[in-house]
Amino acid sequence: MRHLMSPLDFSAEELEKLFDLANDIENNPAKYAHICAGKKLATCFYEPSTRTRLSFESAMLNLGGNVIGFSDANSSSASKGESVSDTIRVISCFADICAMRHPKEGAPMVAASKSKIPVINAGDGGHQHPTQTLTDLLTIRSLKGRLNHFTIGLCGDLKFGRTVHSLINALSRYEDISFIFISPEELRVPDYIIDMLKEKNLSYKEVISLDDVMPELDLLYMTRVQKERFFNEEDYIRLKDFYILTKAKMELAKPDMLVLHPLPRVNEISVEVDDDPRAAYFKQVQYGVYVRMALILTLLELA
Ligand code: CP
Repeated sequence: MRHLMSPLDFSAEELEKLFDLANDIENNPAKYAHICAGKKLATCFYEPSTRTRLSFESAMLNLGGNVIGFSDANSSSASKGESVSDTIRVISCFADICAMRHPKEGAPMVAASKSKIPVINAGDGGHQHPTQTLTDLLTIRSLKGRLNHFTIGLCGDLKFGRTVHSLINALSRYEDISFIFISPEELRVPDYIIDMLKEKNLSYKEVISLDDVMPELDLLYMTRVQKERFFNEEDYIRLKDFYILTKAKMELAKPDMLVLHPLPRVNEISVEVDDDPRAAYFKQVQYGVYVRMALILTLLELA
Protein backbone atom coordinates (compact mmCIF):
# COMPACT_ATOMS: atom_id res chain seq x y z
CA MET A 1 0.00 0.00 0.00
CA ARG A 2 1.29 3.47 -0.96
CA HIS A 3 0.60 6.90 0.49
CA LEU A 4 1.43 10.32 -0.98
CA MET A 5 3.14 12.68 1.48
CA SER A 6 5.55 14.50 -0.85
CA PRO A 7 5.82 14.80 -4.65
CA LEU A 8 9.17 13.01 -4.31
CA ASP A 9 7.33 9.87 -3.16
CA PHE A 10 6.90 9.15 -6.89
CA SER A 11 9.92 8.78 -9.17
CA ALA A 12 10.10 11.03 -12.25
CA GLU A 13 9.18 7.96 -14.36
CA GLU A 14 6.15 7.21 -12.16
CA LEU A 15 5.06 10.84 -12.49
CA GLU A 16 5.28 10.59 -16.29
CA LYS A 17 2.95 7.55 -16.12
CA LEU A 18 0.58 9.44 -13.81
CA PHE A 19 0.48 12.46 -16.15
CA ASP A 20 -0.09 10.23 -19.20
CA LEU A 21 -3.02 8.68 -17.33
CA ALA A 22 -4.37 12.14 -16.40
CA ASN A 23 -4.20 13.23 -20.06
CA ASP A 24 -5.99 10.01 -21.11
CA ILE A 25 -8.71 10.72 -18.52
CA GLU A 26 -9.04 14.27 -19.94
CA ASN A 27 -9.45 12.92 -23.47
CA ASN A 28 -11.55 9.80 -22.71
CA PRO A 29 -13.63 10.52 -19.56
CA ALA A 30 -16.26 7.86 -20.36
CA LYS A 31 -13.62 5.10 -20.15
CA TYR A 32 -13.10 5.92 -16.45
CA ALA A 33 -16.66 6.80 -15.42
CA HIS A 34 -17.40 3.60 -13.43
CA ILE A 35 -13.94 2.32 -12.54
CA CYS A 36 -14.30 3.19 -8.81
CA ALA A 37 -17.87 1.90 -8.41
CA GLY A 38 -18.25 0.64 -4.82
CA LYS A 39 -15.16 2.56 -3.59
CA LYS A 40 -15.23 5.43 -1.09
CA LEU A 41 -12.96 8.42 -0.66
CA ALA A 42 -12.84 10.13 2.75
CA THR A 43 -11.88 13.81 2.77
CA CYS A 44 -10.68 14.75 6.27
CA PHE A 45 -10.06 18.50 6.21
CA TYR A 46 -8.99 20.13 9.47
CA GLU A 47 -8.32 23.40 7.58
CA PRO A 48 -10.41 25.38 5.07
CA SER A 49 -10.30 24.49 1.38
CA THR A 50 -12.28 25.07 -1.79
CA ARG A 51 -10.22 23.56 -4.64
CA THR A 52 -8.40 20.67 -3.04
CA ARG A 53 -11.36 19.15 -1.19
CA LEU A 54 -13.90 19.70 -3.94
CA SER A 55 -11.54 18.55 -6.70
CA PHE A 56 -10.82 15.35 -4.75
CA GLU A 57 -14.55 14.80 -4.31
CA SER A 58 -15.24 15.58 -8.00
CA ALA A 59 -12.42 13.24 -8.98
CA MET A 60 -13.93 10.31 -7.02
CA LEU A 61 -17.47 11.05 -8.27
CA ASN A 62 -16.16 11.26 -11.89
CA LEU A 63 -14.69 7.78 -11.36
CA GLY A 64 -18.07 6.40 -10.23
CA GLY A 65 -17.13 6.20 -6.55
CA ASN A 66 -18.59 7.83 -3.44
CA VAL A 67 -17.31 10.38 -0.94
CA ILE A 68 -17.62 10.90 2.80
CA GLY A 69 -15.79 13.28 5.11
CA PHE A 70 -15.66 16.50 7.06
CA SER A 71 -14.59 19.98 5.99
CA ASP A 72 -14.02 21.50 9.41
CA ALA A 73 -12.21 20.13 12.46
CA ASN A 74 -14.97 21.57 14.67
CA SER A 75 -17.58 19.32 13.10
CA SER A 76 -15.41 16.22 13.71
CA SER A 77 -14.44 14.48 16.97
CA ALA A 78 -11.08 16.30 16.80
CA SER A 79 -13.01 19.03 18.64
CA LYS A 80 -13.45 16.54 21.52
CA GLY A 81 -9.74 15.74 21.55
CA GLU A 82 -9.53 12.71 19.26
CA SER A 83 -6.02 12.17 17.82
CA VAL A 84 -5.27 11.97 14.11
CA SER A 85 -3.98 8.40 14.70
CA ASP A 86 -7.32 7.30 16.16
CA THR A 87 -9.31 9.16 13.52
CA ILE A 88 -7.53 7.42 10.63
CA ARG A 89 -8.04 4.00 12.28
CA VAL A 90 -11.75 4.79 12.33
CA ILE A 91 -11.81 6.18 8.77
CA SER A 92 -10.02 2.99 7.61
CA CYS A 93 -13.20 1.10 8.60
CA PHE A 94 -15.37 3.32 6.40
CA ALA A 95 -13.39 4.26 3.30
CA ASP A 96 -10.89 2.88 0.76
CA ILE A 97 -8.69 5.99 0.50
CA CYS A 98 -8.32 9.23 2.44
CA ALA A 99 -7.23 12.77 1.53
CA MET A 100 -6.21 14.73 4.65
CA ARG A 101 -5.46 18.42 5.19
CA HIS A 102 -4.15 19.52 8.57
CA PRO A 103 -2.66 22.73 10.01
CA LYS A 104 0.14 20.75 11.72
CA GLU A 105 3.18 19.82 9.66
CA GLY A 106 3.52 16.02 9.53
CA ALA A 107 -0.03 15.19 10.69
CA PRO A 108 -0.93 13.29 7.46
CA MET A 109 2.31 11.32 7.85
CA VAL A 110 1.34 10.33 11.40
CA ALA A 111 -2.04 9.25 10.01
CA ALA A 112 -0.38 7.25 7.22
CA SER A 113 1.75 5.37 9.76
CA LYS A 114 -1.42 4.03 11.45
CA SER A 115 -3.64 3.69 8.39
CA LYS A 116 -4.99 0.57 6.68
CA ILE A 117 -5.88 2.63 3.57
CA PRO A 118 -3.81 4.95 1.33
CA VAL A 119 -3.50 8.47 2.79
CA ILE A 120 -2.89 11.52 0.60
CA ASN A 121 -1.40 14.67 2.11
CA ALA A 122 -3.77 17.43 0.95
CA GLY A 123 -1.64 20.13 2.64
CA ASP A 124 0.10 20.07 6.04
CA GLY A 125 0.74 23.45 7.63
CA GLY A 126 3.45 25.42 5.84
CA HIS A 127 5.21 22.20 4.82
CA GLN A 128 4.01 20.41 1.66
CA HIS A 129 1.06 20.28 -0.73
CA PRO A 130 1.96 17.43 -3.08
CA THR A 131 -1.30 17.20 -5.03
CA GLN A 132 -1.10 20.92 -5.84
CA THR A 133 2.38 20.17 -7.19
CA LEU A 134 1.04 17.30 -9.32
CA THR A 135 -1.53 19.79 -10.61
CA ASP A 136 1.17 22.38 -11.36
CA LEU A 137 3.41 19.88 -13.14
CA LEU A 138 0.55 18.47 -15.23
CA THR A 139 -0.48 22.02 -16.20
CA ILE A 140 3.07 22.93 -17.25
CA ARG A 141 3.57 19.66 -19.13
CA SER A 142 0.21 19.93 -20.90
CA LEU A 143 0.55 23.61 -21.89
CA LYS A 144 4.31 23.74 -22.55
CA GLY A 145 4.90 20.16 -23.66
CA ARG A 146 7.84 19.63 -21.30
CA LEU A 147 9.03 19.76 -17.70
CA ASN A 148 12.63 20.80 -18.34
CA HIS A 149 14.64 23.76 -19.70
CA PHE A 150 12.77 26.54 -17.89
CA THR A 151 13.43 29.65 -15.89
CA ILE A 152 10.71 29.80 -13.27
CA GLY A 153 10.00 32.78 -11.03
CA LEU A 154 8.28 32.04 -7.73
CA CYS A 155 6.83 35.22 -6.30
CA GLY A 156 5.25 36.25 -2.98
CA ASP A 157 5.17 34.34 0.28
CA LEU A 158 7.99 31.84 -0.22
CA LYS A 159 8.38 31.29 3.53
CA PHE A 160 4.94 29.95 4.44
CA GLY A 161 3.71 28.91 0.96
CA ARG A 162 3.66 25.10 1.08
CA THR A 163 2.79 24.86 -2.64
CA VAL A 164 6.09 26.60 -3.42
CA HIS A 165 8.10 24.23 -1.22
CA SER A 166 6.60 21.16 -2.88
CA LEU A 167 7.02 22.59 -6.39
CA ILE A 168 10.70 23.46 -5.89
CA ASN A 169 11.35 19.94 -4.58
CA ALA A 170 9.60 18.39 -7.55
CA LEU A 171 11.22 20.61 -10.23
CA SER A 172 14.69 20.07 -8.75
CA ARG A 173 14.69 16.66 -10.45
CA TYR A 174 14.30 18.00 -14.00
CA GLU A 175 17.07 19.13 -16.32
CA ASP A 176 18.09 22.78 -16.76
CA ILE A 177 15.64 24.46 -14.38
CA SER A 178 16.66 27.91 -13.10
CA PHE A 179 14.80 29.20 -10.07
CA ILE A 180 14.28 32.90 -9.38
CA PHE A 181 12.85 33.51 -5.90
CA ILE A 182 11.04 36.85 -5.74
CA SER A 183 10.03 37.89 -2.24
CA PRO A 184 10.45 40.52 0.43
CA GLU A 185 13.26 39.74 2.87
CA GLU A 186 10.80 38.57 5.57
CA LEU A 187 9.19 35.98 3.26
CA ARG A 188 12.32 34.41 1.75
CA VAL A 189 12.32 30.73 0.85
CA PRO A 190 13.42 28.63 3.89
CA ASP A 191 17.12 27.86 4.34
CA TYR A 192 16.57 24.10 4.10
CA ILE A 193 15.38 24.56 0.51
CA ILE A 194 18.35 26.78 -0.37
CA ASP A 195 20.64 24.13 1.18
CA MET A 196 19.00 21.43 -0.97
CA LEU A 197 19.52 23.53 -4.15
CA LYS A 198 23.17 24.18 -3.23
CA GLU A 199 23.74 20.50 -2.52
CA LYS A 200 22.34 19.57 -5.93
CA ASN A 201 24.29 22.40 -7.58
CA LEU A 202 21.08 23.87 -9.07
CA SER A 203 20.75 27.38 -10.44
CA TYR A 204 18.87 29.89 -8.28
CA LYS A 205 18.84 33.55 -7.32
CA GLU A 206 16.88 35.57 -4.77
CA VAL A 207 15.56 39.03 -5.71
CA ILE A 208 13.05 41.56 -4.41
CA SER A 209 11.97 43.24 -7.67
CA LEU A 210 9.51 41.34 -9.89
CA ASP A 211 9.86 43.90 -12.72
CA ASP A 212 13.61 43.40 -13.01
CA VAL A 213 13.38 39.65 -13.69
CA MET A 214 10.07 39.51 -15.59
CA PRO A 215 11.69 39.39 -19.09
CA GLU A 216 13.75 36.29 -18.10
CA LEU A 217 10.83 34.11 -17.04
CA ASP A 218 9.25 31.18 -18.89
CA LEU A 219 6.90 30.57 -15.95
CA LEU A 220 5.72 32.90 -13.21
CA TYR A 221 4.25 31.19 -10.12
CA MET A 222 2.42 33.82 -8.07
CA THR A 223 1.41 33.10 -4.47
CA ARG A 224 -0.80 34.64 -1.81
CA VAL A 225 0.67 35.96 1.44
CA GLN A 226 -0.45 33.26 3.91
CA LYS A 227 -2.37 35.32 6.46
CA GLU A 228 -3.21 32.26 8.57
CA ARG A 229 0.47 31.50 9.25
CA PHE A 230 1.43 35.00 10.49
CA PHE A 231 1.88 35.57 14.22
CA ASN A 232 1.47 39.31 13.89
CA GLU A 233 -1.37 41.06 11.98
CA GLU A 234 0.72 44.22 11.46
CA ASP A 235 3.33 42.25 9.51
CA TYR A 236 0.63 40.68 7.36
CA ILE A 237 -0.91 44.06 6.55
CA ARG A 238 2.50 45.51 5.66
CA LEU A 239 3.40 42.61 3.33
CA LYS A 240 0.09 41.48 1.82
CA ASP A 241 0.16 43.76 -1.24
CA PHE A 242 3.92 43.73 -1.77
CA TYR A 243 3.42 42.24 -5.26
CA ILE A 244 0.47 42.88 -7.55
CA LEU A 245 0.70 41.48 -11.07
CA THR A 246 -0.95 43.94 -13.46
CA LYS A 247 -1.48 44.24 -17.23
CA ALA A 248 1.37 46.78 -17.32
CA LYS A 249 3.77 44.29 -15.66
CA MET A 250 2.67 41.57 -18.10
CA GLU A 251 3.99 43.77 -20.93
CA LEU A 252 7.50 43.13 -19.60
CA ALA A 253 7.05 39.34 -19.95
CA LYS A 254 7.80 36.92 -22.79
CA PRO A 255 4.85 36.42 -25.17
CA ASP A 256 4.60 32.75 -24.17
CA MET A 257 5.29 33.05 -20.42
CA LEU A 258 2.67 31.20 -18.35
CA VAL A 259 1.24 32.70 -15.15
CA LEU A 260 0.38 30.03 -12.59
CA HIS A 261 -1.16 30.43 -9.13
CA PRO A 262 -2.36 27.67 -6.79
CA LEU A 263 -5.28 29.94 -5.76
CA PRO A 264 -7.06 31.31 -3.79
CA ARG A 265 -5.99 34.70 -5.06
CA VAL A 266 -6.39 37.78 -2.89
CA ASN A 267 -4.82 40.92 -4.49
CA GLU A 268 -1.60 39.55 -5.95
CA ILE A 269 -2.97 39.16 -9.49
CA SER A 270 -5.16 41.96 -10.75
CA VAL A 271 -8.39 40.64 -12.34
CA GLU A 272 -7.45 42.54 -15.53
CA VAL A 273 -4.76 39.85 -16.11
CA ASP A 274 -7.39 37.06 -16.24
CA ASP A 275 -8.12 37.68 -19.94
CA ASP A 276 -4.45 37.50 -20.92
CA PRO A 277 -3.90 34.21 -22.84
CA ARG A 278 -0.83 33.62 -20.66
CA ALA A 279 -2.96 33.45 -17.49
CA ALA A 280 -3.19 29.70 -16.78
CA TYR A 281 -4.45 29.64 -13.19
CA PHE A 282 -8.04 28.64 -13.90
CA LYS A 283 -6.92 25.96 -16.39
CA GLN A 284 -4.70 24.73 -13.53
CA VAL A 285 -7.82 24.03 -11.44
CA GLN A 286 -9.24 21.79 -14.19
CA TYR A 287 -5.96 19.88 -14.49
CA GLY A 288 -6.17 19.37 -10.72
CA VAL A 289 -9.25 17.18 -11.15
CA TYR A 290 -7.64 15.01 -13.87
CA VAL A 291 -4.47 14.47 -11.87
CA ARG A 292 -6.38 13.63 -8.67
CA MET A 293 -8.44 11.09 -10.66
CA ALA A 294 -5.18 9.57 -11.91
CA LEU A 295 -3.75 9.56 -8.38
CA ILE A 296 -6.80 7.83 -6.85
CA LEU A 297 -6.65 5.13 -9.56
CA THR A 298 -2.91 4.67 -9.04
CA LEU A 299 -3.05 4.42 -5.22
CA LEU A 300 -6.04 2.05 -5.40
CA GLU A 301 -4.09 0.00 -7.98
CA LEU A 302 -6.94 0.28 -10.48
CA ALA A 303 -4.89 1.89 -13.29
N1 CP B 1 -4.76 25.44 -3.96
C1 CP B 1 -5.40 25.13 -2.81
O1 CP B 1 -4.89 24.39 -1.98
O2 CP B 1 -6.63 25.70 -2.68
P1 CP B 1 -7.65 25.39 -1.48
O3 CP B 1 -7.00 25.93 -0.22
O4 CP B 1 -8.92 26.11 -1.85
O5 CP B 1 -7.81 23.92 -1.40
